[in-house]
Amino acid sequence: MNIILLGPPGAGKGTQASKLVEERGMVQLSTGDMLRAAVRAGTPTGLKAKAVMEAGALVSDEIVSGIIGEALDALAPETGVIFDGYPRTAAQAGSLDTILADRGRALHHVIELEVNEDALVARIVGRYTCANCGEGYHDSFKQPAVVGTCDKCGSTEFKRRPDDNEETVRTRMAEYRGKTAPILPLYEARGLVSRVDGMADMDAVSAQISDILG
Ligand code: AP5
Repeated sequence: MNIILLGPPGAGKGTQASKLVEERGMVQLSTGDMLRAAVRAGTPTGLKAKAVMEAGALVSDEIVSGIIGEALDALAPETGVIFDGYPRTAAQAGSLDTILADRGRALHHVIELEVNEDALVARIVGRYTCANCGEGYHDSFKQPAVVGTCDKCGSTEFKRRPDDNEETVRTRMAEYRGKTAPILPLYEARGLVSRVDGMADMDAVSAQISDILG
């Protein structure tokens, strides 16, 4: 099964994708995570993407569609994929159709996380991750069981994203409204879209997604 999780910054795409990876053995393809890895590694893609990401703008369609195609090529054909943060423009949606068709894959669900944008700034500016294993936490909504120690790997080092500040979040939201939300009708016309209440607590959101996926 191949699915897209769609929603503005902080809607919970990464949170829900991680749960699907744990519970269903699917693979999460997050263009944001892949771009951040390229920035850290200082690759040519990373060098092009760094300033764009820090400003909250969108990286070029060619770059992100290229990395999605490469990531899919590295997977066994039967592996179920969660597209997290891709596609984000009409051009990317068109590329994804081609990328999937070329690999004999189909798209089964597009799940929109419906959220109240006013609450998202608080979600994003409070977010941090384990510097060692990447497990996600939040100052208010998800602290480790022992504060300061990662539940998953025991590390005491954590980090925050450079684009997780209020000004950049507002730009990212505007990009979502202007360029990403308009692709939903394309998928609606194909009968692929389901909506979940992304303002519910994390487990309730997961339960809604499970109901859709069956
Ligand atoms: P990306 O990394 O994709 O960021 P984003 O879309 O802005 O999404 P986020 O990761 O911020 O949010 P999320 O929905 O995953 O929320 P999360 O689960 O973490 O992209 C970053 C940048 O890369 C872009 O700005 C762009 O420059 C570039 N880029 C990436 N893809 C691109 C593409 N396709 N084309 C062009 N450029 C691209 O949750 C947020 C917080 O809220 C967490 O702390 C979590 O614990 C908490 N939380 C989650 N769910 C709940 C809940 N139900 N209740 C309470 N708290 C919750």
